[in-house]
Amino acid sequence: MAIEQTFSILKPDAVGKNKIGAIIQRLEESGLKVVAARMIHLSQKEAEGFYAVHRERGFFADLVKFMISGPVMAMALEGENAVQVYRDVMGATNPKNAAPGTIRADFADSIDENAAHGSDSLENAKIELAYFFRTTELCPRTR
Ligand code: CMP
Repeated sequence: MAIEQTFSILKPDAVGKNKIGAIIQRLEESGLKVVAARMIHLSQKEAEGFYAVHRERGFFADLVKFMISGPVMAMALEGENAVQVYRDVMGATNPKNAAPGTIRADFADSIDENAAHGSDSLENAKIELAYFFRTTELCPRTR
């Protein structure tokens, strides 16, 4: 299977609960490697731009408001089949539907405050990674 990079955000609820380390531990235990990481408090424009694909959805305004309510941890994750592996570790978008042991089942309270974001395809991973990181900021693992 191919080595991929995917994009992750630990959202303001997870950061506010001081669960950055606990979540990264789950990622590392699943074989994913952090190849870039940055704390950032998104501006309204940055959050709207990142979630532009959802701008016609009824939840867009609340989503943006939530995403700018506190700092987030943006990360690039690398590994075999990383896009799907990370989605499996995160669990379903709505924590009520997330399998036991997944990040959203264990750390999220609602579909609106669901602890983590992850790219849904390799194509979108490239777009989302480029939104937050320069190519030179990604550190592919050599060991
Ligand atoms: P995320 O993976 O970050 O992508 C968009 C976010 O919108 C999603 O996680 C949810 O937190 C939020 N959201 C709120 N309501 C919905 C909904 N009905 N369907 C999908 N996403 C929703």
